[in-house]
Amino acid sequence: MTSGQHFSEMGTLLLHVWTVLLVLIPVSTGSGTNICTSRGVRTCQECLSIHPSCAWCSQPDDGQGRSSIARCNLENLLKGDGCRKEFIVSPVSKLTVGENRPLSDKAQGSSSDVTQIQPQRIHLTLRPGDSKTFTVTVRQVADYPVDLYYLMDLSYSMNDDLASLRSLGSDLATAMGKTTSNLRMGFGAFVDKTVYPYMYMFPPEIVSNPCVSMNTVCRPQFGYKNVLSLTEQVDRFTEEVKKQVVSRNRDSPEGGFDAVLQAVVCKDKIGWRSDASHLLVFTTDATTHSALDGRIAGIVQPSDGGCYVNQDNDYEKSTVLDYPSVAMLADKLSENNINLIFAVTDNVMPLYLNYSKLIPGTTVGKLYRDSKNVIQLILDAYANIRSKAELEVLNVPDELILSFNATCLNGEVVTGVRSCSGLKIGDTVSFSVEAKLSGCPKERNRTFIIKPLGLKDTLQVTVDFTCNCDCQDSAEPASPACSNNGTLECGVCLCDAGRLGSHCECTEGDYKPTEADSCSTGPQGPICSGRGDCVCGQCQCHSSNFGKVWGKQCECDDFNCVRFKGQICSGHGDCMCGFCQCNPDWSGENCNCSRRTDSCMSSIGLMCSGRGQCVCGACECTQPGAYGATCEKCPTCPDSCTIKKDCVECKHYKRGPLFEKKSCNTICRDEITLVDELVFQEKSAVNCTYKDEDDCVHHFQYYEDISGKSILYLVKEPECPKGPDILVVVAYVAGSILLLGLAGLLIWKLLITIHDRREFAKFEEERAKAKWEAANNPLYRGATTTFTNVTYRGNS
Ligand SMILES: *[C@@H]1O[C@H](CO)[C@@H](O)[C@H](O)[C@H]1NC(C)=O
Ligand SMILES: *[C@@H]1O[C@H](CO)[C@@H](O)[C@H](O)[C@H]1NC(C)=O
Ligand SMILES: *[C@@H]1O[C@H](CO)[C@@H](O)[C@H](O)[C@H]1NC(C)=O
Ligand SMILES: *[C@@H]1O[C@H](CO)[C@@H](O)[C@H](O)[C@H]1NC(C)=O
Ligand SMILES: *[C@@H]1O[C@H](CO)[C@@H](O)[C@H](O)[C@H]1NC(C)=O
Ligand SMILES: *[C@@H]1O[C@H](CO)[C@@H](O)[C@H](O)[C@H]1NC(C)=O
Repeated sequence: MTSGQHFSEMGTLLLHVWTVLLVLIPVSTGSGTNICTSRGVRTCQECLSIHPSCAWCSQPDDGQGRSSIARCNLENLLKGDGCRKEFIVSPVSKLTVGENRPLSDKAQGSSSDVTQIQPQRIHLTLRPGDSKTFTVTVRQVADYPVDLYYLMDLSYSMNDDLASLRSLGSDLATAMGKTTSNLRMGFGAFVDKTVYPYMYMFPPEIVSNPCVSMNTVCRPQFGYKNVLSLTEQVDRFTEEVKKQVVSRNRDSPEGGFDAVLQAVVCKDKIGWRSDASHLLVFTTDATTHSALDGRIAGIVQPSDGGCYVNQDNDYEKSTVLDYPSVAMLADKLSENNINLIFAVTDNVMPLYLNYSKLIPGTTVGKLYRDSKNVIQLILDAYANIRSKAELEVLNVPDELILSFNATCLNGEVVTGVRSCSGLKIGDTVSFSVEAKLSGCPKERNRTFIIKPLGLKDTLQVTVDFTCNCDCQDSAEPASPACSNNGTLECGVCLCDAGRLGSHCECTEGDYKPTEADSCSTGPQGPICSGRGDCVCGQCQCHSSNFGKVWGKQCECDDFNCVRFKGQICSGHGDCMCGFCQCNPDWSGENCNCSRRTDSCMSSIGLMCSGRGQCVCGACECTQPGAYGATCEKCPTCPDSCTIKKDCVECKHYKRGPLFEKKSCNTICRDEITLVDELVFQEKSAVNCTYKDEDDCVHHFQYYEDISGKSILYLVKEPECPKGPDILVVVAYVAGSILLLGLAGLLIWKLLITIHDRREFAKFEEERAKAKWEAANNPLYRGATTTFTNVTYRGNS
């Protein structure tokens, strides 16, 4: 088992525990009141209908004043109260299989004992509110006998089709003979009702030959004729078809539904066998009349679904009864297990496709203009019928709710489905059926039928509705225990009109307010909470327009509960004596808080996108900046990997920002599991990778299971880079510096040398160009200097 499976199993387990809790909550809520006692029921019958866990004590009153209310309780509480076992009425729902013959493999010669559904008989005992589940298996056996009745429109436009069928008859027999060794074929024809305006009436000779105006001969119009009853001599089919001639009528819709109904209900005339597949092939190229169309011709009497084919094999009420309705056809076809095949031309296909949706078990095939493909069409339709196993149920009372799950070929369970398709002959499929009784039907028992569509085999389910207590049958009218003024039934008195009290001991006139001892809570308290009358020392609560008032002092009602958005208990629970009893998926004082979390699930599969928590079915986004129904929008948020990274750091490595802030345990509720490597867990899991301060790369995977628990799978060993060797680094750096210095020196030396060379070359050149001549050195100065003395003259 992979851990993913493990977690999903944990999820289902939690779910189961949850469901059990939810079921238990309404049954027992604290201080001794439970669903059985809270409603204040007064009869055994009412008690049984509250909840399947409620039981009734029919023990005669022993003087200890067992009030009628406490008689309805959970069974073990009744025993604790001293009710003896033989007086406890608590019927249990039961299922027994009456007949369970195994499925047949192959139809035997006579085929009378072929079994295609198992079991064949079941007996159920159901209490209101309770359900039972059983399994039905279906297998279509090979080489099952086939009855094929070909019903043909013989209006004038079908002339070419008739020509084809004449030549195809024996081929059809051969082809069908390949699917079964036990084939019967029959043939019938129809046109329309022989009254105006469907029929040509003028000139008079046109009645005997409707084609007289076209200068040809055809047969008089007729309603429906059974030409050839089903027979094993399939050659006769060809013979009879060869004898047929078309007729002619006025309007385009034909009277085919009249013919279908007669062919279906005249079982003996047609010769349908009870244990065979019944195919009724209906060929036409026109639309059809149906119920109420007869009014055009003044025919108002509705079809009664009876068989009116006379000695001459003609439908004799053609002009008396209206056409049958589609619903009647569907009903009769199903009742007689006949599969109708509409073989119709292109132009009317959409119409017959619509009809086939309304008539279960019908197929529609496209007929070429001249019916050349009819054999293939019938073979396909037959294969189609045989490739499908669909259960139909008949005669189910409204109060019994049936639900189906199908287990088809691959063993996969499909919920809510009662058909399997794509089957081969011999394949076995099974259906699990849950029957739940939601109320009490009028009758005490009912037998209903579950059967595969088109097969005669059935499963008969007889259901006993245990809505009544057996002790009701031995009720004692005018019983002395009830002061001769009431019926003692199941231990309690049902008083005659005008009598009151648990023993019918007083009349309505005996009302004395001073005896209002048990009618008020204290001496000054209001009598019966002001909502009832004190009669014979007991409160008789007034009825209220808002709902029921009950309780010993009429203190309870079912309408004074908190409202939310104008609805009592938000519309998600029942008001029970001032408190809301919420329906399973809801909680809170006013039941406005949904327990469901699927609305919080974001598209990436995380509860509230991992940025908030699911409160009452809506997300409260805790991540700053997050918004949206599932907190899916958050332009400023780090992604989930970044958030969970801090949790990995603090929870597993005991470091990081959250660890320093000591908020690890409050923020990170993740469960960390160490693994060697990540594996695929589920679609919504996120793979994350991050690098820590030491440059180690950590891989982890993160997802939330259905309960919203966050799970982290952390790869044990992070990938860290190898620590670099310090000596090598120093040597490397020193070496590099040395090398660079040397290179610098060399380059400098090279440049100097080049420069010197150049200067020397220049000097040499200058020297070669020099012409030597004597001249004064412009810098030479003579060695003598002449000064003029300033002469002194005396002051004369
Ligand atoms: C068949 O049914 C569809 C939908 O119900 C309807 O739109 C369509 O017109 C019907 N076709 C004929 C030929 O009645
Ligand atoms: C059908 O399957 C669903 C889901 O598995 C289950 O809850 C239900 O009880 C099944 N119903 C029957 C009739 O088996
Ligand atoms: C079904 O109920 C009727 C009375 O409604 C009774 O006569 C009959 O015996 C019951 N059948 C079974 C099988 O209990
Ligand atoms: C009802 O009870 C009274 C007093 O016990 C008695 O006189 C009367 O006959 C009873 N009525 C019936 C219909 O038995
Ligand atoms: C439920 O009702 C309470 C009280 O009226 C209200 O404060 C709260 O917001 C409601 N919760 C929801 C989810 O509507
Ligand atoms: C996470 O990694 C595992 C193992 O490499 C892989 O099987 C899985 O598909 C990855 N999940 C995602 C959502 O990429």
